[in-house]
Amino acid sequence: MNKVDCQSASEIVIFGALGDLSRRKLLPALYQLEVCGLINSQSRIVGVARVQQTIEQFQEVVLESLKLFVKEPLNDEVLAKFIQRLVYQQLDMKEFNAYELLATNLSQGNSTRVYYFSTPPVIYGDICDGLNHAGLITDEDRVVMEKPIGHCLESSKVINNQVARFFKEKQIYRIDHYLGKETVLNLLVLRFANALFTTNWDRNSIDHVQITVAESVGIEGRWGFYDEAGQMRDMIQNHLLQILSLLTMEPPADLSAESVRAEKLKAVKALCPIDRTNVKEKTVRGQYSDGFLNGLAVPGYLNEEGANTNSKTETFVAIKAEIDNWRWSGVPFYLRTGKRMPVKHSEIVVHFKEQPHNIFKESYSDLPANKLTIRLQPDEGVELQMMNKIPGIASQMHIQENKLDLSFSETYQDQRVIDAYERLMLEVLNGNQSLFVSRDEVEAAWTWADSIIDAWQSTNETPKPYAAGSWGPVSSISLIARDDRQWVE
Ligand code: BG6
Repeated sequence: MNKVDCQSASEIVIFGALGDLSRRKLLPALYQLEVCGLINSQSRIVGVARVQQTIEQFQEVVLESLKLFVKEPLNDEVLAKFIQRLVYQQLDMKEFNAYELLATNLSQGNSTRVYYFSTPPVIYGDICDGLNHAGLITDEDRVVMEKPIGHCLESSKVINNQVARFFKEKQIYRIDHYLGKETVLNLLVLRFANALFTTNWDRNSIDHVQITVAESVGIEGRWGFYDEAGQMRDMIQNHLLQILSLLTMEPPADLSAESVRAEKLKAVKALCPIDRTNVKEKTVRGQYSDGFLNGLAVPGYLNEEGANTNSKTETFVAIKAEIDNWRWSGVPFYLRTGKRMPVKHSEIVVHFKEQPHNIFKESYSDLPANKLTIRLQPDEGVELQMMNKIPGIASQMHIQENKLDLSFSETYQDQRVIDAYERLMLEVLNGNQSLFVSRDEVEAAWTWADSIIDAWQSTNETPKPYAAGSWGPVSSISLIARDDRQWVE
């Protein structure tokens, strides 16, 4: 047995195997792990879906998906091995007794299974019941759950309770795919492997932080689904709060799941509540209207296909968040995220404090403060803005603001950019939960987000329009301008 075989799970069962996520992300991720020799040689990949089809038809779907979504040319040898692993099981996932059929298709004995729930969360409970009924759950098996985990705190508890009847917390892997992104993971390295940032990472050195996750896409044919959620539930409650917690947590003792997740949880719990008393001052909701993107006219949210023209759902959110603890008291974290913004662009900008005194007044009257930009995507990298002397013999010292720029694509030219799902799949197979969200974290995040959503509702805060292709409503500029600051564009 090689090293991979010893440590990793040996049967991967994907519920919703024909769905978009599975075809776009999960199967290509597993293929890439195959390329790297990181899948147990005995492992089988069992696709489960409602559609009746033969194994040959399923193999064909998988092949087509790989051709479409794997960026590199497919390797015939690896592909043959991968296709050999596939098994297909037609199943009505709500039908309790049907799982006995699934049991006949799974290997018996002591293989560890990963059950990937790539289905709407409303049927997670049914799947668990069915698996249990057919005797398909052991203490070693793992279950992977996709977001959204609920619509609010209460509904997230219902889902978590349904799964917790049969799986212990140590068996449950809740996905937030941002935790698998290389640049998000690099936050741990940046903060805890560089003394420079370990020591200057608090209210004494940092003035404020901006986190922007902008997308140029609109709703992409999923209007009904999105309209139930909105940008607060779709992006802030999970992805932005995960970024924020990695950025602000105390140093964990080590990289274990217990240590990292405990520190992230403390950070989310320390967020100052936003409620009806301060929601207008601390948040902005927006909804895109007709506009232009890359010179092309694009419809507004209410004019998208399938839209309900009365919808008050937000497609943009900006928040001034604050963390009430020793390290961060008084440091604002400005978060903003929206659909149909001018470009797809995610970054964190850490604005350090200004120097208390300027001895270079003669050549530079206002010394700009240092700024650390962490480019999450695209054009991944880290950039530090700092002051430098312009070389020259003049009697007066001329200084200039320059950048130290670490571009990942230039520095790691030979490295393929790994998709978040590859990293996360690998961690599930290896039984490492540190990149997955604990139940306590999900609940703390919902508690904070619910309070904002309730406050919007009780104060009738309707979304402000912004033209598609712009950076959000004007009030988002005011949100930060009130503090004498401005968004980095
Ligand atoms: C998903 C959201 O979780 O993340 C989508 O549901 C969003 O609305 C997507 O578009 C963004 O992910 P990424 O990896 O493209 O930044």
